[in-house]
Amino acid sequence: MKQPPRPNGRPPAFTYQPSSKKSVGHIDSSLHGDQVALSLLAKRYGTPLYVYSASSIRQRAAAFESAFRKVPHTICYSVKANSNLAILRMLAKAGYGFDVVSGGELERVLHADKGAAKKVVFSGVGKTREEMKAALKAGSLLFNVESASELRALAECAAQARKIAPVAMRVNPDVSAKTHPYISTGLHKHKFGIPISEARYLYAEAAKSKHLKVAGVSVHIGSQITDVQPFSEAMQRVAALVRDLRADGHKINYIDAGGGLGISYDHDDRSDFADKVGGYAEALLRPLRGLKLHLLLEPGRSIIGPAGALLTRVLYKKTNGGKKFLVVDAGMTELIRPSLYQAHHQIIPVTSSDSAKQEVVDVVGPVCETGDFFARDRQMPEVEEGELLAILDAGAYGMVLASNYNTRPRPAEVLVDGKSSKLIRRRETIGDLMRNEI
Ligand code: LLP
Repeated sequence: MKQPPRPNGRPPAFTYQPSSKKSVGHIDSSLHGDQVALSLLAKRYGTPLYVYSASSIRQRAAAFESAFRKVPHTICYSVKANSNLAILRMLAKAGYGFDVVSGGELERVLHADKGAAKKVVFSGVGKTREEMKAALKAGSLLFNVESASELRALAECAAQARKIAPVAMRVNPDVSAKTHPYISTGLHKHKFGIPISEARYLYAEAAKSKHLKVAGVSVHIGSQITDVQPFSEAMQRVAALVRDLRADGHKINYIDAGGGLGISYDHDDRSDFADKVGGYAEALLRPLRGLKLHLLLEPGRSIIGPAGALLTRVLYKKTNGGKKFLVVDAGMTELIRPSLYQAHHQIIPVTSSDSAKQEVVDVVGPVCETGDFFARDRQMPEVEEGELLAILDAGAYGMVLASNYNTRPRPAEVLVDGKSSKLIRRRETIGDLMRNEI
């Protein structure tokens, strides 16, 4: 039976299982999320539909826990990757913390679990005073400050609220993350963070305020980073800064190492996920040896990405000038990654037949943009109109980036767990879209 090649070491979220329907002359198999047939979910909830595997999310988060078990640490799941309340609730229940970048994300976390604030780190280059006040009120663990002006604004907010804000400067280590330019953040030309060479002055300023408490150093060099070397380089620079800051008399308890660990979207890499996180942990921890610290981590994609798929139905097949197109009912409005970052997502038929011929197609959406595509010149098993496709590794930066362009309601989301499945977000209606218009 055909299986999409998946990394070993965990039950893959999406696997083919023998189909109950017998076809003459060939064997069909049907794609499942955990033990639930995706065709069944499409029938029940319609398409396009996001499906996530709870067991896979749990296992991937646990792999992080295990890789860092030898040092004091907190895994602060990066809410921006996928902010569905059911997923946040599940992670909060398992004891994870959260990385938020807006008042909205903070509210989601608190809605999922009121007690989670003490494990919330507040990042982001443009926090408003209202957002800072809300995070202070909630009792957040750490504010990752990105500029001198933000530091002053935070001190003012804390003074007004009669609180003391625990701060880390997000430093920009000037390390190349070797990833897509749009998701690389650690070079001095990027808008993020404070140049590492200027950080000491800002720490000195922070230490003078009675409403700020210097607590850590934070760094995040980018996303979808598959080579651990840049993480290690960044940590070496951060470790040197921590030593300098301690010599200056600051109490540095935390290093927030950010997120960024990449996943293998094309699945040519069959290495075990636990081994991968192990390698990542080693790259981060080696430069920190001897420094007594609590490590904070902000993984997003590596926890939720491979645990999600976008289900879509083939509306039409067409040929233009010798080029074959599959027009599907999902588009850049549901998953913008291919359009925005030229990202590759594996696309597989939900019903797979061992006798299917291959063909080269463009898989495109219904949105009125040439950039609305999921794959170009992709060799895939031949499928018919009406058949279902699964776009894999869509759990991170999928639904959170969905839009209503062309007045398209955003899709529903389903969480499968073993044999069970539940709707965790209803499909939007056109009425929802028009509700706030006057
Ligand atoms: N921490 C900070 C401060 C971040 O800016 C990010 C991601 C993360 C943690 C989580 O990074 P992760 O572990 O997920 O790589 N929309 C893009 C990715 C944008 C990432 C933004 N920041 C994409 O679809 O590839």
